[in-house]
Amino acid sequence: MEGSKSRVKRKRLAVFVSGGGSNFRSINQACIEGSVNGDVVVLVTNKHACGGAQYASDKGIPVILFPKTKDEPGGLSSDDLVKVLREFEVDFVLLAGYLKLIPVELVRAYPRSIFNIHPSLLPAFGGKGYYGMKVHKAVIASGARYSGPTIHFVDEQYDTGRILAQKVVPVLANDTAKELAARVLKEEHKLYAEVTAALCEDRIVWREDGVPLIRSKENPEEYY
Ligand code: GRF
Repeated sequence: MEGSKSRVKRKRLAVFVSGGGSNFRSINQACIEGSVNGDVVVLVTNKHACGGAQYASDKGIPVILFPKTKDEPGGLSSDDLVKVLREFEVDFVLLAGYLKLIPVELVRAYPRSIFNIHPSLLPAFGGKGYYGMKVHKAVIASGARYSGPTIHFVDEQYDTGRILAQKVVPVLANDTAKELAARVLKEEHKLYAEVTAALCEDRIVWREDGVPLIRSKENPEEYY
C-alpha cells in the first residue's frame, strides 16, 4: 500500500523527556530512517541539562522547558506550553520518561493524541510511586514471570489511559532489577517506534467498547 502511505501527511511529533532519552533517540532515528512518517519537531523537558535535551540540541531539534520551577525558572506555564505546541503544529505528544504530571490544559488541547510508555504490563505495577527501578524491583519481588512495556493514551487521570500496545518479556529466576530493566528497555525502543509508525499512518482504530487497536500494515483486516 505504498500509495496510501504517501497520501498521509507527515506528522509532527513533540517528545517529552526527563532523562537520558533513549526512547526519544530511537523514535527520532526511526523518523530519520523513514520507518516513521513523521518528524520530532520539538523536545519538551523539565531538566534542561538532561541527556535527552542535549541530544536534541546536537540534532538541531528545539528544546522547550516545562514546567517553571525553582530549579528551572525559564520553564513555561501550562497555557504557554499549549500555545507553543500549537505554533509548532504538533499532531502527537509522546511522553518518553517524562516524570512530571501532564497538565489538564494539555490533555484537553490534544484529545486522544498524547501517549506514554511505561516499563511494566499495565495495569500491574503502575500508578503513583511506580517509576524507574522501583517498577522492576516490584515485578521481581512479586514473583511475576512476565513483564514488558505498555504504551497507553494519557487522559486526565494518572496512568489510567487506554492501553494501546504491549510487549511481553520473560522475568528470569535470577534477574536483578537492572537486568530486567535492560531487557524491557530494548523492547520499549522497538515498540515505541512501531506504535509511532502506526500513529503517523493513521492506523489507530477505536473498537465499539472504547478500546484502541492498531491496524496491521501488512493486512488491513488484522488488528493488534
Ligand atoms: C523508560 O523505561 C520508560 O518506560 C519510562 O522511563 C524510562 C525512560 O527511559 N517511562 P529513556 O529516558 O527513554 O532512556
